[in-house]
Amino acid sequence: MSSLNPREDGGLASLEAVADGAIVELEALVDGEPESVLVHRSGQTVRAWLNICPHAGRRLDWAPGQFLVSKAGHLVCAAHGASFSLADGLCVDGPCKGESLRAVPVTVRDGRIVAV
Ligand code: FES
Repeated sequence: MSSLNPREDGGLASLEAVADGAIVELEALVDGEPESVLVHRSGQTVRAWLNICPHAGRRLDWAPGQFLVSKAGHLVCAAHGASFSLADGLCVDGPCKGESLRAVPVTVRDGRIVAV
């Protein structure tokens, strides 16, 4: 797990700013380093991972904040097509099958997505 430093306003974003089912990209300090983080909202649940594919270390989005999602509802890496479960970040198909995205611990508090 990584530690994530919230911005001065105490969170990464408001929950309302992320549509239900959406995947957004944010920049946040993770272990003290600025990192691209992808955030997925499912109802009141929010999960976040580093925007780094475990296959070859590329970003998962094809343009900043633009993510591919398969018909099965998996996040698809734009580089070589690895598919990841949005429930747990596990690669379920593709060149890094069995590996996982690096989780960034977040939760929702008072309508804000915050680090835990
Ligand atoms: S870098 Fe993501 S599948 Fe190759």
